[in-house]
Amino acid sequence: MIKSSNIQPDFDKLTVYDSAVLASKYTAKKIAELILQKQKEGNRAILGLATGNTPKMVYQELIRLHKYEGLSFSNVVSFNLDEYYPISVNDEQSYTYFMNNNLFNHVDITQENIHIPHTDCSSNQISEYCLDYENKIKSYGGLDLQLLGIGRNGHIGFNEPGSKFDSITRLIDLHPLTREDAIENFGDLDNVPHQAITMGINTIVQAKKILLLALGERKSEIIKKALNGTIATEVPSSILQTLPQVEYILDREAAVLIQK
Ligand code: F6R
Repeated sequence: MIKSSNIQPDFDKLTVYDSAVLASKYTAKKIAELILQKQKEGNRAILGLATGNTPKMVYQELIRLHKYEGLSFSNVVSFNLDEYYPISVNDEQSYTYFMNNNLFNHVDITQENIHIPHTDCSSNQISEYCLDYENKIKSYGGLDLQLLGIGRNGHIGFNEPGSKFDSITRLIDLHPLTREDAIENFGDLDNVPHQAITMGINTIVQAKKILLLALGERKSEIIKKALNGTIATEVPSSILQTLPQVEYILDREAAVLIQK
């Protein structure tokens, strides 16, 4: 554990927007700029993508840029952070369903360039599957940009409190707070899976650029801990404090407890 209670976040890396819409549009703009820059260079853009409520408006803006401003996703290769285990890709609660519905069905990304951990493998195949996912990211030269939300317990991806900073893609037990927050989508706690496949913290921190987006007052407590608190595995997102390539993008409500 690294003690850093006196370290203040590097405010150069923090932008606070007046609204969730503005924060989301800014985030989408950063992603679009990377896609365009890679297109100019004749390269693919390797994106790490998140699900949940936080990125929804980012994806809406990316769809708008595609439809009305000619942004093409033909050079995009995507890797999603995580997926529940077990779940069928056809379930409305699956992240495959989420990504198709909220982004992929509306842009010109090539189907074969989409990677989402699928969890229809049996339990004895999971470790091999996770290693393959990790190696696939590496085979593309790593992630150019990783988009992150943050859980109320500080998780990034489904790296729950206690996850090692050197962890890689693996099966993980979901934290009670994560399962509680998922009731919104599953209707009842009993329907929420107990496990998930997630990229590891080490997988995430290898990304060349990381955008952490947090919206709304319900994220303000954890944002304070993640940005200002001790760097410790109890708050997995606290590791981001040590990385030069991280940008925190907040709306005013999520930033309410951060002292400037
Ligand atoms: C989702 C993910 C999670 C979410 C986090 C916040 O792919 O990896 O870490 O980003 O749980 O979820 P929302 O945005 O729904 O508050």
